[in-house]
Amino acid sequence: MDGSRYLRAQDRRARLMRYDTAVILKRFHFVESSLVLSIAGWIPATAPLLLKTTYARILWEDSQTAEAMRQRVFELRYPSRLMSKEGEEPLIQLIDEARNAPSALAFYLALVQVLLPALKDAYQAYLELTDVTGDGPSWRFMQQARQEKVQQISELLALLPDMLAAAPQDLPAASAWVEALRQQLARLGGIGLDPVEAQGESPLLPGRVPFAVAQIPARESGFRKVRFYWPDVCVPEYPYGEGLQLQLRSAVSHLNEVWAVEACAAFTFGLADELGWEFVLDAARWTYDEARHCRMGYERLTSWGFTKAEMPLGDYIYRAARDQDAIYRLGMLFFFETKNIHKKPERAEKFRQIADALSQHDMDFDWADETIHAHYGKTWLTRLLEVRGQGGDPKDVRQRCYELVEAEVASVTPQEQAEILQIAEEMITKAERLAAAV
Ligand SMILES: [Fe+2]
Ligand SMILES: [Fe+2]
Repeated sequence: MDGSRYLRAQDRRARLMRYDTAVILKRFHFVESSLVLSIAGWIPATAPLLLKTTYARILWEDSQTAEAMRQRVFELRYPSRLMSKEGEEPLIQLIDEARNAPSALAFYLALVQVLLPALKDAYQAYLELTDVTGDGPSWRFMQQARQEKVQQISELLALLPDMLAAAPQDLPAASAWVEALRQQLARLGGIGLDPVEAQGESPLLPGRVPFAVAQIPARESGFRKVRFYWPDVCVPEYPYGEGLQLQLRSAVSHLNEVWAVEACAAFTFGLADELGWEFVLDAARWTYDEARHCRMGYERLTSWGFTKAEMPLGDYIYRAARDQDAIYRLGMLFFFETKNIHKKPERAEKFRQIADALSQHDMDFDWADETIHAHYGKTWLTRLLEVRGQGGDPKDVRQRCYELVEAEVASVTPQEQAEILQIAEEMITKAERLAAAV
């Protein structure tokens, strides 16, 4: 056969074939979804507040990327709907292993110095090889994913001083962990477009500590660290407040949705095996939403002139579920976060009346998120009880959630009551002074 009798064209577009593309996207999907769970798992043990909320956004972005990849794999391998880790096990095991970091600092450094840069480079390589004419849908989300990785790395690096300040003693072991991870990843050929080089089990990394979600959350030392974040939680008859006090209470409440970020992240990790990927997708969004609510409070208080040292940061609801089944963290988020849904439009209206557009804006967006969360909570609590098949009743979960929190509140000490009364008093006094100066 004379090869010169066939048509030929420049073949740059044909460098990645359909099957190869699906294999690569499947590999990236598993890496991203492993990272989503690792980041979620580490949120409660991570001290800097803005790192917690940044992690929450990153894990949501990564879940979106992983989902776009998964859908594209289905398209490219139609009619197969299989997403098997076959052939990728050593790499995915290593990415999973990264969560067994010896400290929050070690996990953070591994993420920002090794894993995210490796993904950014891999996506760049993919974009250079892929052909927009043949594979435009992948090109679009891959480009976004690469841009997000660049942004994630730079935002995380900006929080390095906070992370180092939180636990400087952890740095030597963290550096050794990062190096071990880097070397092992290089041995596997990195996260790339080619098949994983090594086969068999990926070795466990030296210095590992089997991962467990923190049951008492880490707190940034710059804030006023308390269990109960406003007197009305733990001092009988103390009012929620109106006018200026409502502005403050609402902002402190939003800031303290840090418990919701932590609880949501904790059960995202804790229930992923039982509930599967569709749950992780919803829970990632839920975690991110709560992180936005927390940021709303932090940013309002900051913009009014309050410093971290004046802001109370509590943890009683997260604490109340310590060492309990993750179903109670899901229950608490569902029952406690949605029970005030009807008050939010009311409060948004009160803020409009006093021309506090920022509080009104935040309350309005929070309300929209809460209606989604009510759906998530109902869906996944019901599904979890079904999966467990013990005839569990959501009402029993709800009852237990209330009992756990009531017991936590009942354990308040007179010193804690005095402290939060004083913190609130100082904030109100300062707020009155600030308001008078406007
Ligand atoms: Fe919320
Ligand atoms: Fe919520």
